[in-house]
Amino acid sequence: MNKRQTRLFAIVSTGIAVVVFLGMTIDSHRQFPKLTNAQNITPAVRMGQDVWHKYNCINCHTLFGEGAYYAPDLTKITQLRGEQYIKAYMRDPSQFYDEQRHRRLMPKQDLSDDEIINLYAFLDWVSKVDNQGWPPRPILVTGASITGTDLSAQQQGQGATQAPPGATPVEQGDNPIAIGERVFRTAVPACASCHSVAPGVNMAGPSLAGIAARAEKIIASPEYTGKAKDVASYIKESIVEPSAYRVPGAMYSANGVSFMPNTYGKDLSPEQVDQLAAYLASLK
Ligand code: HEC
Ligand code: HEC
Repeated sequence: MNKRQTRLFAIVSTGIAVVVFLGMTIDSHRQFPKLTNAQNITPAVRMGQDVWHKYNCINCHTLFGEGAYYAPDLTKITQLRGEQYIKAYMRDPSQFYDEQRHRRLMPKQDLSDDEIINLYAFLDWVSKVDNQGWPPRPILVTGASITGTDLSAQQQGQGATQAPPGATPVEQGDNPIAIGERVFRTAVPACASCHSVAPGVNMAGPSLAGIAARAEKIIASPEYTGKAKDVASYIKESIVEPSAYRVPGAMYSANGVSFMPNTYGKDLSPEQVDQLAAYLASLK
């Protein structure tokens, strides 16, 4: 190429790059209202955003991976924890973690009840923004990461009974324990984001290892406040009506209300609850 051709080449290729860049930028902007569910930005969501700024949550936390990296990312937090837990956490974070063990602190900020309600609305709206998989995986408190849960499937609105790639539906239909294990990871909020199945690993909820043996003892004890008569019905009651009996512990419930989400009774089908119970009863 001579000099003239080189210059022409540079100008044309720069021109093409600019056109492509502008096109993509405009296209992104056109998609914002849809990706952000703009129609769901209620007054409560806006007020919640003000609360978020007023208390400088971003000085410690991230949303969409942006912010300070001192504390967990909160982009999907409402889908991981549910309403009861988050509201209780905002009232008094200190009861949820152990300074010695976690080495990090979230200050008690004395938010008003209204502020907490609006903040929840804001975080719940954030959790439903189609962030196209960013950040790639939520970062959680207590050092646990919840790689076991399947948030991307949840985001695409796929049902909890969706077969994993490669699994044939027949195999699934045959094995309620295997299906239950999958529901455990894909229900919204995901059970696995609060419960470990390893013995002694208590996260936001108690470990579910050995739950069958424990359930028998609880049902027989005078402290038991629920209606279950056997292991299966104890587990099902724990899922659809968490407050019927609360596992003791200030980080698990307050004033008779469990911090476990109380939405599974309506969001899961009776079959899914049965499959979960079969899976949990099988944990040693
Ligand atoms: C000074 C830093 C700091 C500020 C400011 C702060 N947090 Fe936190 N937050 C933390 C830390 C640290 C944790 C995790 C504690 C642990 O390790 O268990 C946490 C945990 C949380 C959790 C629980 C996460 C989970 O996985 O269970 C929520 C929800 C939360 N913060 C919301 C907020 C909101 C909303 C604000 C603003 C009103 C806020 N935080 C302000 C430090 C902070
Ligand atoms: C936000 C965290 C959270 C999520 C999500 C959650 N749980 Fe829980 N779960 C708890 C807490 C806290 C307790 C203890 C208080 C109580 O008894 O309700 C608990 C208790 C239980 C118990 C009773 C345990 C025992 O030792 O008696 C079972 C069973 C259980 N959960 C199953 C599930 C299943 C199945 C799911 C998903 C469908 C689920 N949980 C989702 C927090 C959670």
